[in-house]
Amino acid sequence: MKLSQNTLRLTVLVTSLLMPPLASSALAQSNHAQDLYQRGLAATCANCHGTDGKGVENGGMPMINTLSSEQMLTQLKAFKSGAREGTIMPQLAKGYSDDQLQTIANLLGKK
Ligand code: HEC
Repeated sequence: MKLSQNTLRLTVLVTSLLMPPLASSALAQSNHAQDLYQRGLAATCANCHGTDGKGVENGGMPMINTLSSEQMLTQLKAFKSGAREGTIMPQLAKGYSDDQLQTIANLLGKK
Protein backbone atom coordinates (compact mmCIF):
# COMPACT_ATOMS: atom_id res chain seq x y z
CA MET A 1 0.00 0.00 0.00
CA LYS A 2 1.25 3.43 -0.93
CA LEU A 3 0.90 6.10 1.69
CA SER A 4 -0.85 9.16 0.32
CA GLN A 5 0.25 12.61 1.43
CA ASN A 6 -2.95 12.92 3.47
CA THR A 7 -2.47 9.60 5.26
CA LEU A 8 1.04 10.68 6.13
CA ARG A 9 -0.17 14.00 7.51
CA LEU A 10 -2.85 12.24 9.51
CA THR A 11 -0.29 9.81 10.93
CA VAL A 12 1.97 12.66 11.98
CA LEU A 13 -0.97 14.48 13.56
CA VAL A 14 -2.21 11.42 15.46
CA THR A 15 1.31 10.56 16.61
CA SER A 16 1.92 14.06 17.90
CA LEU A 17 -1.42 14.00 19.71
CA LEU A 18 -0.54 10.70 21.35
CA MET A 19 2.98 11.60 22.36
CA PRO A 20 2.31 13.76 25.44
CA PRO A 21 0.14 11.11 27.17
CA LEU A 22 2.69 8.45 26.28
CA ALA A 23 5.50 10.54 27.70
CA SER A 24 3.68 11.17 30.96
CA SER A 25 2.76 7.51 31.37
CA ALA A 26 6.42 6.63 30.86
CA LEU A 27 7.23 9.05 33.66
CA ALA A 28 4.57 7.47 35.88
CA GLN A 29 6.08 4.10 35.13
CA SER A 30 9.54 5.23 36.07
CA ASN A 31 8.18 6.65 39.36
CA HIS A 32 6.50 3.31 39.91
CA ALA A 33 9.76 1.47 39.17
CA GLN A 34 11.59 3.75 41.59
CA ASP A 35 8.96 3.05 44.25
CA LEU A 36 9.23 -0.71 43.68
CA TYR A 37 13.02 -0.55 43.83
CA GLN A 38 12.91 1.31 47.16
CA ARG A 39 10.34 -1.04 48.64
CA GLY A 40 12.37 -3.98 47.38
CA LEU A 41 15.41 -2.74 49.27
CA ALA A 42 13.42 -2.41 52.50
CA ALA A 43 11.66 -5.74 51.94
CA THR A 44 14.94 -7.60 52.50
CA CYS A 45 14.67 -6.59 56.17
CA ALA A 46 11.18 -8.08 56.58
CA ASN A 47 12.39 -11.66 57.10
CA CYS A 48 13.77 -10.74 60.49
CA HIS A 49 12.21 -7.40 61.39
CA GLY A 50 8.71 -7.94 59.99
CA THR A 51 6.80 -6.23 57.19
CA ASP A 52 7.60 -2.50 57.10
CA GLY A 53 9.85 -3.06 60.12
CA LYS A 54 6.86 -3.82 62.33
CA GLY A 55 8.50 -6.71 64.11
CA VAL A 56 7.05 -9.49 66.20
CA GLU A 57 7.04 -8.71 69.91
CA ASN A 58 9.27 -11.29 71.70
CA GLY A 59 10.10 -12.77 68.30
CA GLY A 60 13.78 -12.84 69.17
CA MET A 61 14.70 -10.00 66.80
CA PRO A 62 15.15 -6.36 67.78
CA MET A 63 12.12 -4.17 67.15
CA ILE A 64 13.33 -1.52 64.73
CA ASN A 65 10.09 0.42 64.31
CA THR A 66 10.88 2.25 67.54
CA LEU A 67 13.72 4.11 65.81
CA SER A 68 13.34 7.29 63.81
CA SER A 69 14.79 7.24 60.28
CA GLU A 70 17.75 9.25 61.53
CA GLN A 71 18.43 6.90 64.46
CA MET A 72 18.11 3.89 62.18
CA LEU A 73 20.54 5.31 59.64
CA THR A 74 23.04 6.00 62.43
CA GLN A 75 22.83 2.36 63.57
CA LEU A 76 23.05 0.99 60.02
CA LYS A 77 26.14 3.08 59.31
CA ALA A 78 27.67 1.98 62.62
CA PHE A 79 27.14 -1.67 61.63
CA LYS A 80 28.64 -0.95 58.21
CA SER A 81 31.74 0.78 59.57
CA GLY A 82 32.27 -1.78 62.34
CA ALA A 83 31.70 0.81 65.08
CA ARG A 84 28.81 -1.35 66.30
CA GLU A 85 29.23 -5.11 66.59
CA GLY A 86 26.57 -7.65 65.80
CA THR A 87 25.92 -11.13 64.44
CA ILE A 88 24.04 -10.40 61.24
CA MET A 89 23.76 -6.68 60.70
CA PRO A 90 27.46 -5.90 60.12
CA GLN A 91 27.58 -8.21 57.08
CA LEU A 92 24.21 -7.06 55.84
CA ALA A 93 24.88 -3.34 56.17
CA LYS A 94 28.17 -3.68 54.26
CA GLY A 95 26.16 -4.86 51.24
CA TYR A 96 24.44 -1.52 50.79
CA SER A 97 25.68 1.86 49.62
CA ASP A 98 25.13 4.79 51.99
CA ASP A 99 22.40 6.03 49.65
CA GLN A 100 20.63 2.69 49.82
CA LEU A 101 20.84 2.67 53.63
CA GLN A 102 19.36 6.17 53.64
CA THR A 103 16.49 4.98 51.42
CA ILE A 104 15.82 2.00 53.68
CA ALA A 105 15.98 4.08 56.86
CA ASN A 106 13.59 6.63 55.33
CA LEU A 107 11.08 3.90 54.53
CA LEU A 108 11.32 1.92 57.75
CA GLY A 109 11.95 4.63 60.34
CA LYS A 110 9.20 5.51 62.82
CA LYS A 111 6.73 7.90 61.22
C1 HEC B 1 18.66 -12.43 59.11
C2 HEC B 1 17.96 -11.53 60.02
C3 HEC B 1 18.06 -10.03 59.82
C4 HEC B 1 17.84 -9.32 58.67
C5 HEC B 1 17.48 -9.84 57.28
C6 HEC B 1 17.96 -7.92 59.03
N1 HEC B 1 18.27 -7.80 60.35
FE1 HEC B 1 18.52 -6.06 61.39
N2 HEC B 1 19.00 -7.10 63.05
C7 HEC B 1 19.10 -8.46 63.14
C8 HEC B 1 19.75 -8.83 64.40
C9 HEC B 1 20.02 -10.23 64.88
C10 HEC B 1 20.06 -7.61 65.05
C11 HEC B 1 20.86 -7.42 66.36
C12 HEC B 1 22.30 -7.03 65.95
C13 HEC B 1 23.07 -8.20 65.34
O1 HEC B 1 23.25 -9.21 66.01
O2 HEC B 1 23.51 -8.08 64.18
C14 HEC B 1 19.56 -6.55 64.19
C15 HEC B 1 19.62 -5.20 64.51
C16 HEC B 1 19.16 -4.19 63.70
C17 HEC B 1 19.12 -2.78 64.08
C18 HEC B 1 19.51 -2.18 65.40
C19 HEC B 1 18.27 -2.09 66.25
C20 HEC B 1 18.51 -1.32 67.53
O3 HEC B 1 17.66 -1.43 68.43
O4 HEC B 1 19.51 -0.60 67.64
C21 HEC B 1 18.64 -2.12 63.02
C22 HEC B 1 18.40 -0.60 62.89
C23 HEC B 1 18.37 -3.08 61.97
N3 HEC B 1 18.69 -4.33 62.44
C24 HEC B 1 17.89 -2.77 60.73
C25 HEC B 1 17.79 -3.67 59.68
C26 HEC B 1 17.50 -3.29 58.33
C27 HEC B 1 17.23 -1.88 57.86
C28 HEC B 1 17.51 -4.44 57.60
C29 HEC B 1 17.36 -4.59 56.10
C30 HEC B 1 18.37 -3.96 55.29
C31 HEC B 1 17.78 -5.55 58.51
N4 HEC B 1 17.96 -5.03 59.75
C32 HEC B 1 17.81 -6.86 58.14
C33 HEC B 1 18.63 -9.36 62.20
C34 HEC B 1 18.36 -9.06 60.88
